[in-house]
Amino acid sequence: MLFSPFVRSGLLPAILSRGLLATAAATAASDPCAKVAGLQFADPVDAIACQKSFPFNETLRQNVLSVVSRVFDFYTFEDFYLNSPLPFHESTTNIRADIARINSTHYATDYDFNRDLWDFTTQLNDGHTRWFPNCYNSYQNLLPAPVVILDKGIFIAPDSVEFLNQLGLEFTAFFAAKKFNWQRLAGAKVLTIGGLPASVYIDNIARTVSGNYLDHNVRVNSVVSSYRIVNTDFSQRLGDLAGQLFLTQTSLKFSLIPVNSTTPEVVDVPFVSDFIGAPFTDGPSYWTNNCATNNKTNGVDLRSRISRISRSRPRLARAALMDPAGQPKTAIGLPGPFLPTLSPTNGSTGVIKSFILPGNKTGVFPLDVDAAVKQFKASGVTNLLIDVTNNGGGFVCLGLFLHLFLAGTKVGLPGFQSTSRANPLAQKIVRAGIQQGHDSSISFYAPDNWLFLNGTKMPLNFDYNDPSVPFVVNGRNDPTSQRFEDGCPAPNVEIPTTPPFDLNKIAIIGNGNCASTCATFTTVMFERHQTKIAVFGGRVKLTFAFAGMAGNQVLEWADLDTEIKTAGLKNDPLAPPDLLVNGNMRHNWRSAYSFLNEKLPIAYVSEQPRFRFPYTVETYNNPQKLWLFA
Ligand SMILES: *[C@@H]1O[C@H](CO)[C@@H](O)[C@H](O)[C@H]1NC(C)=O
Ligand SMILES: *[C@@H]1O[C@H](CO)[C@@H](O)[C@H](O)[C@H]1NC(C)=O
Ligand SMILES: *[C@@H]1O[C@H](CO)[C@@H](O)[C@H](O)[C@H]1NC(C)=O
Ligand SMILES: *[C@@H]1O[C@H](CO)[C@@H](O)[C@H](O)[C@H]1NC(C)=O
Ligand SMILES: *[C@@H]1O[C@H](CO)[C@@H](O)[C@H](O)[C@H]1NC(C)=O
Ligand SMILES: *[C@@H]1O[C@H](CO)[C@@H](O)[C@H](O)[C@H]1NC(C)=O
Ligand SMILES: *[C@@H]1O[C@H](CO)[C@@H](O)[C@H](O)[C@H]1NC(C)=O
Repeated sequence: MLFSPFVRSGLLPAILSRGLLATAAATAASDPCAKVAGLQFADPVDAIACQKSFPFNETLRQNVLSVVSRVFDFYTFEDFYLNSPLPFHESTTNIRADIARINSTHYATDYDFNRDLWDFTTQLNDGHTRWFPNCYNSYQNLLPAPVVILDKGIFIAPDSVEFLNQLGLEFTAFFAAKKFNWQRLAGAKVLTIGGLPASVYIDNIARTVSGNYLDHNVRVNSVVSSYRIVNTDFSQRLGDLAGQLFLTQTSLKFSLIPVNSTTPEVVDVPFVSDFIGAPFTDGPSYWTNNCATNNKTNGVDLRSRISRISRSRPRLARAALMDPAGQPKTAIGLPGPFLPTLSPTNGSTGVIKSFILPGNKTGVFPLDVDAAVKQFKASGVTNLLIDVTNNGGGFVCLGLFLHLFLAGTKVGLPGFQSTSRANPLAQKIVRAGIQQGHDSSISFYAPDNWLFLNGTKMPLNFDYNDPSVPFVVNGRNDPTSQRFEDGCPAPNVEIPTTPPFDLNKIAIIGNGNCASTCATFTTVMFERHQTKIAVFGGRVKLTFAFAGMAGNQVLEWADLDTEIKTAGLKNDPLAPPDLLVNGNMRHNWRSAYSFLNEKLPIAYVSEQPRFRFPYTVETYNNPQKLWLFA
């Protein structure tokens, strides 16, 4: 059904008696959440009214800020923020002063408090280190006008109609009821957004909304729409201008020139709030299901589970972007016409999707290997193109394994030197774990997760946090652990001793949105093999890193809490309390140091690609055309 009779103005009074109407209005006024309950797509005005219906609560502020503040004690990059080095100066801030400010600000609602904390952590521009309040990540605000930056200017994505129609009839009905024709905007040339020149508005969103990456131009590419490859799926990101996770805007004014017109016009484009949280019927159930703490919010003492879990398998370290709450539609399927038409090669059924370009000279694969490489070889492929566009990272060891596979065992240790912070509580955790014989099956702090720099595994009783090592950044000394390398389990395929392809014939392409494990992989290829890298998009006059968010390992709040509880230290005066709300304060727990300058974390080395190209109307959403160009 395309039109609901109840949303047509004029019809409602005829159907409902005055008495019924008054009751409905009273309920909606006293409980704004009841008004949006059950709706997949809600008017942002109403969804925000629901989220703002919970009053500010001082107990919750103290609880959340205690957790946040004590998580920052473990954050490897804290002191860099005091004066972030060029070209990352935009991220300069005093983290402790920000926390103190939020601790003493007057807020009317719980939403306002959480929004301030969200903005502060988002603007650290480190996707590993952010506050995610489930309560306010329960909707995604969608604008039916995703924007792209192409060689010829800034446009509403030309494929908007095919792309957004995938959201279904309820989505299109929402705008039909408003009599808003968003379809005609597809492909329009954009002059201004929000009253500012379009490029200035895009920069503002990159500065205040996107987060995740220190490099400004990488964030510019997060603002706009582009294709994405995740495992075997091709999709298209909405971009942060048209797909925001914290509801703030209700509409956005554009001046634009529609396709086949020469006259600029002003269009106020409405947002629609897409519900991605847990179902509710009213305010109290919204709070219980989306905001109240649940049994996954905090960590657990794994010692009590030792007998039940297999202690033979280490828990695998992750470094990846966060997809908070439900399934946010950061990306929707890539419309059919833009999917690659080449047939995937062998080995494309699992996590790898690989192709051979016509002529059999070049094989393409998105970051992930063995069967594909065998077929590439069988077909006489000599060149390798690795597409890391919008790659959010994953298991740390996968990136190291791919490097080893391409470079051969002769390369030695495939990763980077790494440290965590040796704050007093971290030192106690390592010590307590050693005393209790903890290993990598229950603790990321256990010494057997790591290798000495000569490649041998640390023994279970080796205290790499004591003595700690001085580490001075911006005049502050925050000692780190001793240096170590990642100890990855042996991959279950044979690693060649010599590179399967000439390393000079490997190229990496992407859009700078190559996070975490992707960033460490591309950086190691660049630093150790001078691999050719090309990035697409961004703003032409700004520097542009080929990757970002290059921490070495992220711990979610529950992971850190599990380390503390499993060490038996939850009652330590330095330990954070359990969270009283459903949220996640994740942080970058380990740094990786540049191979070329082992004093500097790779996150703070601005490495530029050898080639830069604009996207065109042909390539922004079409991987195969981009590969052929590359
Ligand atoms: C504030 O939150 C705490 C913890 O959930 C709760 O016990 C308390 O009742 C709340 N205060 C008010 C005034 O709602
Ligand atoms: C917030 O301020 C209160 C005093 O008003 C103080 O007791 C508390 O420790 C502060 N919390 C944080 C996280 O700084
Ligand atoms: C623009 O004009 C061309 C040629 O007349 C036509 O094929 C196309 O459908 C028009 N596009 C739109 C969006 O009106
Ligand atoms: C956690 O809560 C869910 C939902 O209430 C429940 O189904 C599950 O059994 C709980 N798990 C544990 C370990 O308590
Ligand atoms: C691809 O896989 C099929 C089925 O396993 C096999 O018969 C074929 O030889 C493989 N081709 C190449 C080039 O490896
Ligand atoms: C490419 O390789 C395939 C085998 O994988 C073969 O069938 C085809 O003829 C080759 N094409 C060219 C142009 O060499
Ligand atoms: C590797 O280094 C560690 C720590 O310095 C040392 O104890 C160990 O003997 C070394 N192993 C080898 C094989 O050199």
